Amino acid sequence: MSAAIQLICHRAGALRLRWWPGQLRQLRALLDDHSFWAQGRSPAQLRQMLAGSQAVVSAWRGGRLVGFGRATSDGVFRAVLWDVVVAGEEQGQGLGRQLVEALLASRNLAGVERVYLMTTNSTGFYKRLGFDVITNQKLMILDQSSG
Ligand SMILES: CC(C)(COP(=O)(O)OP(=O)(O)OC[C@H]1O[C@@H](n2cnc3c(N)ncnc32)[C@H](O)[C@@H]1OP(=O)(O)O)[C@@H](O)C(=O)NCCC(=O)NCCS
Repeated sequence: MSAAIQLICHRAGALRLRWWPGQLRQLRALLDDHSFWAQGRSPAQLRQMLAGSQAVVSAWRGGRLVGFGRATSDGVFRAVLWDVVVAGEEQGQGLGRQLVEALLASRNLAGVERVYLMTTNSTGFYKRLGFDVITNQKLMILDQSSG
């Protein structure tokens, strides 16, 4: 029988200390395999990303990373969810919901006026969690990734 899933809500500020190199490698692999927007992030970039996030949750089955999500937040007005990913074989069993609910309940997100996210293919998932599609605003991006 496989181990139960353990959900970890990482404490902001202690994030650099809590991810060992092997765990970072697993995070990179999870993002490489199950996202199209977060591929090829280096361990140094991932550490910086974790340290700069006000809420981070991860899900482990035994020693294996099977889910991840994070958020940035000012703690009062605005927060944004990023990089919510569930490993392929674990999808469709409620883990994505648990990850998002844990982020929303975390100290830096609970009570924040508005929580935003961007999604290409998972609108239906986020609607099930209470998010609405907004059509009267435009998403604008300054892409600084090349050059
Ligand atoms: C999107 C993702 C995180 C969902 O995780 P999951 O564990 O499969 O989702 P859950 O099983 O928790 O689903 C929660 C609810 O959303 C529904 N749902 C899940 N994916 C859905 C979809 N694509 N369209 C419509 N509804 C969906 C489920 O049926 C479930 O509904 P219920 O509560 O009424 O039973 C996961 O499929 C994933 O990692 N996909 C690849 C990465 C990705 O696209 N992430 C989103 C980034 S913005």
